[in-house]
Amino acid sequence: MTQRAVVRGVGHYLPERVVPNAEFEKTLDTSNDWIVSRSGIERRHFAAEGQTTSDLAVRASRAALENAGMSAEDLDAIIVATSTSDLTFPSTATMVQSALGNTTGFAFDVQAVCAGFVYALANANALIVSGQAKTVLVIGAETFSRILDWTDRSTCVLFGDGAGALILSAEDGTGTNADRGILATDLNSDGRYRDILYVDGGVSTNSTGVLKMEGKEVFRHAVEKLAATADMALSKAGLHHEDIDWIVPHQANIRIIQATAKKLGVSMDKVVVTVQDHGNTSAASIPLALSVGVRNGQIKKGDLVVAEAIGGGLAWGSVVLRW
Ligand code: UT7
Repeated sequence: MTQRAVVRGVGHYLPERVVPNAEFEKTLDTSNDWIVSRSGIERRHFAAEGQTTSDLAVRASRAALENAGMSAEDLDAIIVATSTSDLTFPSTATMVQSALGNTTGFAFDVQAVCAGFVYALANANALIVSGQAKTVLVIGAETFSRILDWTDRSTCVLFGDGAGALILSAEDGTGTNADRGILATDLNSDGRYRDILYVDGGVSTNSTGVLKMEGKEVFRHAVEKLAATADMALSKAGLHHEDIDWIVPHQANIRIIQATAKKLGVSMDKVVVTVQDHGNTSAASIPLALSVGVRNGQIKKGDLVVAEAIGGGLAWGSVVLRW
């Protein structure tokens, strides 16, 4: 008998304020046409003043708990993937834990930037498979609006705020790839590329900093590494491109999403795309897309889903799971 980490519920939250591309035309030398044609982004949500990453995470978590028909006491562990935590410490996850009213589980953050949710899912899977936890709440939540340089047109038009959450529970499986749940994970990083996407400040340098990105370079790595990690996870699961029902990619750029799908030989009607509405929400983008994909009737029980992401580090990876 094999323990599988099976999806029990999913939910998301987006801040109320929607900012269309046209807003940036007022203060920057940019245009809606450029942003849409180079990235696919049409609008994004920005958190209100005073609204923090844990606020977004709590709302997404409540939606996921409701979707699962579970309560906070049912959770053994809470993992938040974020690069924009409320405070240096404690973790955003412990803030979510207290807001939800859970006192019996354990909670911690994972920081792998845009690949954070994939890393968090791999951690949750390991906790469940090893018997450390039975039910894990995995959240991706970000307020990237707090680390953007509003004078840099090449970055500030690309990102947004939001949160998505997934609940995974231990279930007995057969050990074959027909099981529901996480079937394979693949994680990678290469710190030699840390200078092409980073924030130029932090606690240890006594500053906050803003996001810096060499977009073209990141783009080049993204297309090549995302297809490779998806291939690796599929092969670990003993599955092939034609078995994929849905690719749920990190939502950074429609051109990266299209190029990766093409490399994998999967048509775009099997790809969940939310980048037009959310922009790049870093670790929140995959759980947001999963939640939207389920709500729209795209992802259904039994579907084979491949989630893949890359971001600062560089850090990248993928998860193959049967919904
Ligand atoms: O989530 C983590 C992973 N991140 C990503 O995956 C992002 C990866 N990179 C990208 O998505 C793309 O590289 C961008 C969307 C950031 C940029 O698209 P690009 O096709 O690579 O454009 P570029 O950076 O080569 O810029 C082309 C031109 C430049 O002008 P020149 O040098 O050709 O005169 C830029 O200065 O576009 C200019 N530009 C803009 N023009 C109008 C850059 N940003 C803007 C802007 N509005 N907002």
